[in-house]
Amino acid sequence: MDTRQVISDEVLHVAPGSPLRRSFGPARDRSAFAEALPEPGGDGLGPAAERRLPPRSGIVRHAGRDRGAASAPSAVRGGAAAGLPPGGTAAVDPLVGRTEHGLHIERLIAEGGMGAVYAARRVATGERVALKVLRRVHAGDSGIESRFAREVQLARRIDHPNVCPVLGEGRLEDGRPFFLMPLFDGITLSEEVRRNGPLPLDRALAVADQILAGLAAMHAAKVVHRDLQPGNILLVPAAPGAGAPGDGAPTVKLIDLGFAHEPGVDKGDGVTPDSPGSLVGTLLFMSPEQAMRSRAITERSDLFAAALLIYYALSGKLPFRGRGDLDVLVAIVRSAPVPLRRERRDVPRVLDEVLARALSKHPDHRFAGASAMRDALAAVRA
Ligand SMILES: Nc1ncnc2c1ncn2[C@@H]1O[C@H](COP(=O)(O)OP(=O)(O)OP(=O)(O)O)[C@@H](O)[C@H]1O
Ligand SMILES: [Mg+2]
Repeated sequence: MDTRQVISDEVLHVAPGSPLRRSFGPARDRSAFAEALPEPGGDGLGPAAERRLPPRSGIVRHAGRDRGAASAPSAVRGGAAAGLPPGGTAAVDPLVGRTEHGLHIERLIAEGGMGAVYAARRVATGERVALKVLRRVHAGDSGIESRFAREVQLARRIDHPNVCPVLGEGRLEDGRPFFLMPLFDGITLSEEVRRNGPLPLDRALAVADQILAGLAAMHAAKVVHRDLQPGNILLVPAAPGAGAPGDGAPTVKLIDLGFAHEPGVDKGDGVTPDSPGSLVGTLLFMSPEQAMRSRAITERSDLFAAALLIYYALSGKLPFRGRGDLDVLVAIVRSAPVPLRRERRDVPRVLDEVLARALSKHPDHRFAGASAMRDALAAVRA
């Protein structure tokens, strides 16, 4: 019998024929996550269309989807996959060039599983905003619409410089819900690492500090992100001469509360039911409790993911490895993390200790909260 199948049945309880099973793709070495980042129009993990989850089960994301690289088959993706410049999408996206609600929609930034994000401008003031709209294929699906509404509602609770705010919301003329954010001229952490390689230590620690500051504010508002991965961390370059955090380090904006929930209160909406029971998140960035659906997903699940982000920022790799996504998930659940110092000699030993604690299999063995983990990292920086 196929071992991978046995593992998936026993450990992950993946139903036969589930789209998740297909989503694992061909076995290959996933130790260097950077190598698996998206090719134009895909996520680098196999044929995107084949690995796409159908709308109703769109609760698992595949890391690496990013700006301009829509993973669902669409006219936009076709253009990108063909290597056309981003401007090539304007001709085929019916929203680009339209003016609605006093907003002129200028270009598509990215299209993900749930939504599409556009750059727009307020006609009256010239202010540049980002408009996130539910994808057309999900329009009218009440479960998905309620999740989109929840994303807005949860984001509105948080007011912190490291969390992307919501500026307004409404419905487009075609009936789809949208919300507005400030438009940040930044790139995601995944783009940063892909383009420029792992971050220098001081810069990575400054980014980590801000991720945890944003997370602490989010958790104080009783919101658990559940989908912290490099595509959901925006890095906004410091303006020249501005008193930026960490001496020229970018400002972090946590984005995409599409999978966020309030533990213990939010019982799910049929699309993102709360744990235990449903697989929610991005495969390679799941905590053991997320992967196993064995315990509630809490603030400490976000701390596990934050440690993966820090590791990734500093190495372009992940500490849990395997030949395919499934093997990586099994390693997340069972194996000890590969120490970061094995990848990078310049990181202090104590940083590995902080990461190891945040990557504890049992949530109780991690830090008590984002602020405690932030304090521990501050000691590394000192
Ligand atoms: N406020 C913003 N300013 C600039 N770019 C943004 C902003 N918000 C989102 N983006 C860009 O759009 C991309 C998709 O945003 P987001 O993750 O919120 O959408 P999504 O539909 O949930 O996508 P996915 O399913 O791929 O995660 C981000 O990775 C980022 O590149
Ligand atoms: Mg996202």
